[in-house]
Amino acid sequence: MSLIVSEIAAFVGAALAGTYIAWSVLERIVLVAANEHLTPFASYSSLGVAIVLVPVFALLRRNHHYLRGTRVNGCKLANVYPHRDPILGLDILRISVKALKEYKLLELWDKLLNTYNGTYWFSSTGQWMLITSEPENFKTLLSTRFEDWPMKSLRQQVSILTLGPYSIFAVNGPEWQHTRAMIRPSFVRNQIADLECTDRHVENFLARLPRDGSKFDMDKLLYHFTMDVSTDFMFGYSTSILTSPTKESLEFMTAFDYLLTTSTNRARLGWLALLKPDKKFDEYVKITQQFVDHHVSQALAQEKMERPYIFMNEIIKSGASHREVRDQLLSLILGGRDTSASTMSSLFWVLARRPDVLKKLREEIAELEGRKPTWEELKNLKYLNMVLKETLRLYAAVASNMRTAERDTVLPKGGGPDGQSPLFVPKGTDCRFTTYSLHRRKDYWGDDADEFRPERWETHRPG
Ligand code: HEM
Repeated sequence: MSLIVSEIAAFVGAALAGTYIAWSVLERIVLVAANEHLTPFASYSSLGVAIVLVPVFALLRRNHHYLRGTRVNGCKLANVYPHRDPILGLDILRISVKALKEYKLLELWDKLLNTYNGTYWFSSTGQWMLITSEPENFKTLLSTRFEDWPMKSLRQQVSILTLGPYSIFAVNGPEWQHTRAMIRPSFVRNQIADLECTDRHVENFLARLPRDGSKFDMDKLLYHFTMDVSTDFMFGYSTSILTSPTKESLEFMTAFDYLLTTSTNRARLGWLALLKPDKKFDEYVKITQQFVDHHVSQALAQEKMERPYIFMNEIIKSGASHREVRDQLLSLILGGRDTSASTMSSLFWVLARRPDVLKKLREEIAELEGRKPTWEELKNLKYLNMVLKETLRLYAAVASNMRTAERDTVLPKGGGPDGQSPLFVPKGTDCRFTTYSLHRRKDYWGDDADEFRPERWETHRPG
């Protein structure tokens, strides 16, 4: 069926269903006003049918809007996952939960994205959602049509629950710009390049590595290491988990980890979360807030800021309220801590399997003759930088992300069976974009896209 015929059919269907619903409601009002004497069946049958028709009407109206928007904007329809259950999408939910349990959810999404040419619609527990791995779409979502795609739905709820309503990960528009301006000074180059601070914690980390060849959990130690560094950068006070943590520091880390791992599930429940209170969650939110509040109060009580390179002091200087400072500090710990730990964890996993890469790295670092590098020297370690880029490519710490269409809008790719035409997206649509798949596209990275090959960065210039 051509686009225009489908559009007309959806319009006629919606008009008929809408008319029937309106007529039934009117009829009911008139009958009540006339004090009718009909049997219960005769009196309610028409209204009953109308109630059943309401979701049909909503579906046809939405379909008509999508088809019309597609035609008017010169777009093509996107591929749709062939659901057995197109209403609630329980079929895709089932395979996703199975994949999640096997730690293969990203692989499943990647396989489906390859099957449906980079973009497709699917029903996520009753709500139609888009998923894409098209580079052009990433650019549109995050840059050219950034205003059309704020952070909403699940993504925003998770951030608000764990980090607070002022968090840079929870706000949009002017609030986001305000927050960025507030934290930007903290990122002045010499502040983030406070190598001495990092170095102290590297020593602590190295001291915890067993020397007798015994097995140990590198991932856990890296998360402890980055918690110590992040808190030191944020507050000028480290949790010192690797050396001598206080009871408060351990409680803070336990609470923070719990919140991050459970908040997504809690946000998924939406208003149902009210029916299933999680006392531990609420208690842990308080613990993380109290920990940060304690350090903010201490800083505010000081007349002179002692150490210059502390994020908290820079944010306080901006004139932000106590609540804003707290939400940003928690956000910065999240932003810096888990991403860095996860990236290093992936890096060491690769190095343990690739003696050739390790050898080349060692050769480059040997040029420093045992000396610690300056910031400039660190930047000029060419092979190390390529290895890090390749790690970030294949093991992106933020492997997938989501935005919601604020208004009717168009994505440059995803329309048509080959996914190469523009795609109309109705207001309210959630769009997931997966960096995991984008970074493995063979048409973009070449046939060896799945291979860890740092040398590709000698010539590759991301566009
Ligand atoms: C390997 C390390 C890192 C990776 C892979 C990473 C990744 C990302 C990604 C993908 C985003 C975009 C999130 C979104 O738009 O939804 C982001 C934003 C952000 N990251 Fe990082 N990050 C890393 C390190 C850090 C560090 C060390 C800090 C702070 C100390 C940090 C602070 C932030 C902040 C504040 C934002 C929000 C920026 C904004 O909305 O304007 N990140 N990061």
